[in-house]
Amino acid sequence: MTKSKTALVIGASGGIGQAVVEELVSAGFKVVISARNKEKLETLASSLPENTVTIIPANISEKDSIEKLFLEIENRLENPVGVVVVAAGGWAPNTFENDLASFEDNFTQMVEQNLTGPALALFAGAKYLKKQGGGILVNVSSHAARKSLAGNLGYGPTKSGIHWFTQLLNNEVGETVRVTDIQPAVVNTGSMTKQLGECSHKAIQPEDIGKVVVLLTQLSLHTTVSQIHLDANYEF
Ligand SMILES: NC(=O)c1ccc[n+]([C@@H]2O[C@H](COP(=O)([O-])OP(=O)(O)OC[C@H]3O[C@@H](n4cnc5c(N)ncnc54)[C@H](OP(=O)(O)O)[C@@H]3O)[C@@H](O)[C@H]2O)c1
Repeated sequence: MTKSKTALVIGASGGIGQAVVEELVSAGFKVVISARNKEKLETLASSLPENTVTIIPANISEKDSIEKLFLEIENRLENPVGVVVVAAGGWAPNTFENDLASFEDNFTQMVEQNLTGPALALFAGAKYLKKQGGGILVNVSSHAARKSLAGNLGYGPTKSGIHWFTQLLNNEVGETVRVTDIQPAVVNTGSMTKQLGECSHKAIQPEDIGKVVVLLTQLSLHTTVSQIHLDANYEF
């Protein structure tokens, strides 16, 4: 269990990130909300009770931007952050129908978005938490990390890569920081909701991912939870 009631959510303006922020706020956390687009973060902040969130935009594809994010947290916040959640990333299809150039474009984009960026954020988050004396680090990868799904020639390998990174990082940070990778199947958010149509209620609901994050903050740090698989009992 973390004594800190302050969290950082990266990817906070996304479908999953927003639900994580809402559940953390409902559980009494103050939350630093981060992503690249400041306006979207402001819209989220305006939907939440006053003085529950602090906006600090950052681009996790850029090392300097991540360093600035954690420096600003140290300088601006009264209490240190004890929970860091990385829910930033994105999907674009890559299939065998592509020519080599399109395959490469997508592959490069997926690596930056789902592997390099999140790995930099998780690495910096682990360093920050260790410096504070400990905490909880959570990543959202995907069931694509462990399943062979159509159209995922780019996305799939980056999600297995970031999953494996979380497991290696957990070994490095020792007893004070616990790293967990959540691997959800299809979540009822954003463009997925449109695609799912009338089946959307059968997908994972984003607030359930938020509830899982809150649960992780309540467990002893000595309890290892290296990965959580969230699947739907419906074939999409
Ligand atoms: N939705 C699903 O069905 C589903 C299922 C399994 C796994 N996932 C994974 O869960 C994560 C979140 O998914 P989602 O559906 O919530 O996606 P989303 O709605 O597209 O949100 C993505 C979030 O990440 C931020 N972001 C993207 N690139 C960033 C960067 N370089 N630096 C900082 N922030 C960045 C975006 O804001 P800005 O664009 O303003 O930066 C946004 O806040 C993704 O990794 C996704 O692959 C999603």
